[in-house]
Amino acid sequence: MPDLRFDGQVAVVTGAGHGLGRSHALLLAERGAKVVVNDLGGALDGTGPSSGPAADVAELIVKNGGEAVANGDNVATPEGAQAVVQTAIDTFGRVDIVVNNAGILRDKSLGKMTVEEFDAVLAVHVRGSFLVTRAAFPHMKEQAYGRVVNTSSPAGLFGNFGQVNYSTAKMGLVGLTKSVAIEGARANIRANAIAPIAWTRMTEALFPAEFQEKLTPERISPLVAYLAHESCETTGEVFSVGGGRVARVFVAEGPGWRTDDLTIEAIRDNWDAVMTEEPHLQPTTLGGQATASMQAML
Ligand code: NAI
Repeated sequence: MPDLRFDGQVAVVTGAGHGLGRSHALLLAERGAKVVVNDLGGALDGTGPSSGPAADVAELIVKNGGEAVANGDNVATPEGAQAVVQTAIDTFGRVDIVVNNAGILRDKSLGKMTVEEFDAVLAVHVRGSFLVTRAAFPHMKEQAYGRVVNTSSPAGLFGNFGQVNYSTAKMGLVGLTKSVAIEGARANIRANAIAPIAWTRMTEALFPAEFQEKLTPERISPLVAYLAHESCETTGEVFSVGGGRVARVFVAEGPGWRTDDLTIEAIRDNWDAVMTEEPHLQPTTLGGQATASMQAML
């Protein structure tokens, strides 16, 4: 089987000045994609923008023989997100792949978290991914082709102390992914999400030092590239990825328990049945879930 390549395709990678995004951009470029390297260039909390990180990565790609252009716009604003996609159109004439990777942290326990800290995190992760995808969508529809890869997190899928804002945002990206997958289906636009675990400036304080060599960003990017490839028809899915392991994460619904006479006490008395996991359903649309619920009434 030949290697998977992206010759003639154009990828936008947000937050590609550091960490995971940088690694995704380098891999896609190495495999022939022309890459818009977007990064606001700020600190971990998003403050102090700088054009340096995006420019450095774009320069490295070109030095390696690839094609790239740097972009320093803020994906959390409609104008910034539009400008990121416009950079792809103006420089390379199209956009085939969007990797929504830009992210910030403002960790605090719930009682101490301010509205600003909550909103700022949602703005970059959720609003930014929505805005960049929305800007690219008409181009993808027009060419009847597109690949979107969003960046969720185990913190959103499973929860984490001190990250109410971040967890909310990261689960929000699962909803965004699933609905974009449904809306893009007819135009051959596929959307999936990754929930990575990797050693970057975002996580270096969390992991024991011996994991630095195992949890490299380079062990995340091959999944992003596969999901971004024409040959991958999978859509609306979420994958846990880290240290070389890739696993499907799915949202499932247990068989449930029902009665025509639902009372508080009936729920209490049948709680074990409500909590039963098997046999489970994995609806891929709201319609699929609703049909299953309605069938249970017949
Ligand atoms: P990072 O801090 O190295 O990279 C994030 C990049 O996004 C930075 O270069 C930053 O300048 C850029 N950025 C922030 N706000 C931006 C904005 N408004 N517009 C454009 N660029 C902006 O961190 P890392 O670890 O590489 O994170 C990448 C993504 O992966 C993030 O979405 C993060 O939440 C997610 N993630 C990372 C995990 C890990 O283990 N490292 C775990 C789960 C999710």
